[in-house]
Amino acid sequence: MQTDTTTRAARVHAGSLRKEHVGRKISLSGWVQKRRDFGELIFIDIRERSGMAQVVIDQARALPAVVAAAKELRQEFVIRVEGEVAERIAGQQNPNMPTGEVEVIASNIEILSRSDVPPFVVENETTAAEDTRLRYRYLDLRRPALTANMVLRDRISFGVRDYLHQNGFLEIETPILTRSTPEGARDYLVPSRVHPGNFYALPQSPQIFKQLLMVSGMERYYQIARCFRDEDLRSDRQPEFTQIDIEASFIDEEFIFSMIEGMFARIFPLAGIELSTPFIRMTWQEAMDRFGVDRPDTRFGLELVDISAAASATDFAPFRAAIESKGTVRAIVVPGGAAFSRKRTDDLTEVAKSSGASGLVWIKTDQQRNSSIRKFLNETSFDSLRAAAGARDGDLILAVAGTETVVWDVLGNLRLKIARDEKLIPEERWNFLWVTDFPLLEHDEVAGRYFAKHHPFTSPAVADYDKLESDPGATLARAYDIVLNGLELGGGSIRINTPELQSRMFRALGINEDEAKERFGFLLEAFRYGAPPHGGIALGLDRIVMLMARATSIRDVIAFPKTMRGQDLMCGAPSTVPESQLDDLAIAIRKDETS
Ligand code: AMO
Repeated sequence: MQTDTTTRAARVHAGSLRKEHVGRKISLSGWVQKRRDFGELIFIDIRERSGMAQVVIDQARALPAVVAAAKELRQEFVIRVEGEVAERIAGQQNPNMPTGEVEVIASNIEILSRSDVPPFVVENETTAAEDTRLRYRYLDLRRPALTANMVLRDRISFGVRDYLHQNGFLEIETPILTRSTPEGARDYLVPSRVHPGNFYALPQSPQIFKQLLMVSGMERYYQIARCFRDEDLRSDRQPEFTQIDIEASFIDEEFIFSMIEGMFARIFPLAGIELSTPFIRMTWQEAMDRFGVDRPDTRFGLELVDISAAASATDFAPFRAAIESKGTVRAIVVPGGAAFSRKRTDDLTEVAKSSGASGLVWIKTDQQRNSSIRKFLNETSFDSLRAAAGARDGDLILAVAGTETVVWDVLGNLRLKIARDEKLIPEERWNFLWVTDFPLLEHDEVAGRYFAKHHPFTSPAVADYDKLESDPGATLARAYDIVLNGLELGGGSIRINTPELQSRMFRALGINEDEAKERFGFLLEAFRYGAPPHGGIALGLDRIVMLMARATSIRDVIAFPKTMRGQDLMCGAPSTVPESQLDDLAIAIRKDETS
């Protein structure tokens, strides 16, 4: 049924319908959420980006064509409704709906487009499998929760741009078809047709380009940049993701800290979250010693304690062996954990082993004074372990012996698991933390050489320049991470800006001059033409939106995400391509490699 466009009532967005509209003739456009037919009255919930509103068709009063159209409606039909806004009668109001006090009495219904029966009902509490939702992502995005995430993401991106623009940053795009950048993951490669056998790499980050922009004198750069990394995926990792990428010249760490704190203080209120700045800072060493990880969740305790001295006085051989081989014995104390069942402690032991421990020692500081190593503990050593751990009556001590790295890793994992299982994490806290003073290099036992912990352009701490040659492992970096509630939101550093120091860094990494020239020659060359002191940071936009939206996966804040296996189930990527396309690129597929 058509209406003359000249007499059409103005559109009101469904979600914004309120009491003040009562008595007005309006139109609504959107999708049919639900149709309920009560004989005399037919109710239709109409949904669009702004929300949902109720439409009523009174069969006794409506035109027959309107009733007929209403009866035809099914879920996800796209309609346009005209009618008068009325206050719902007492008892019919819906306090759970922002539009729940009013409804639209339809005088006209236009079906703009029909829908097949959707593969799942479009509503927040869906039981549809994630794969189905990803296959029909355009329907999934109609669910109000996902729509809200997209709206929030837009507001954050806009807020970030606005804030950085106000602070004198220029938004500059850097290439997507480029050369491999060393961020530690595998590259996605794109074959060149014009140069057979040659490949572009998709950027893992715009790192080198943003440094070159500093050499160009751009002074302050930012980009909301898409990055690509072929790495194992997790709930907080996608193969393509978005960074808020920032670089500035003539600055130091303090500039970055206060600029980023200002940015977070600006965007978090968009999700109703007020922050207080400055954020707490902690050195990498302190983070590792207290929490076992470099991205600690500081919303709860269960901190690690060094009990090596007390442990070495026991008769338990693994404790003594660890300490004799320059290892350590550390523990966490679970308040009230003496009540844990045998199954619980067995499960925790399994978790410890799967994180790399050779075993887990538990000690219950209740009246039974039971322990997995009871027979190796006399009364004195039991009491001294308990005192060293700071356990109180009824607590559970969980201790691990081994190298520092293994002990940190195992206790860091146990700490998180127990906090989650025991619900010790106050969900409504927003604990931001700067982690500073990272080691510059990390030794890889298998490769037998050092790797850059952040990336090879990070400056050593000024006081540590000489350690690059004399004690590389002890060199600290001018690097920092920003952590929120145990998730790494971003990382950056003050960079090297002289070719001499950059060459020394490459040498420390075992990258010889030819290789350095081949891979980063253009950067080294640029440094010879006057590079300002500079530094920057990149923040994971997807992760920021995920936390602000209180989502559990970054897939929920990306319009078209990939599965954990890197697939786009909707458009079917990755896919095979016709032989002719491969021929153009001079590429042949090995038959044993296809799946
Ligand atoms: P980094 O590698 O630490 O630093 O990355 C910065 C931030 O990007 C986010 N991130 C990811 N998010 C989703 N999926 C992924 N696969 C993924 N990988 C990284 C994280 C991370 O903290 N060029 C440097 C920055 C610099 O030095 O300025 C860099 O890329 O939130």
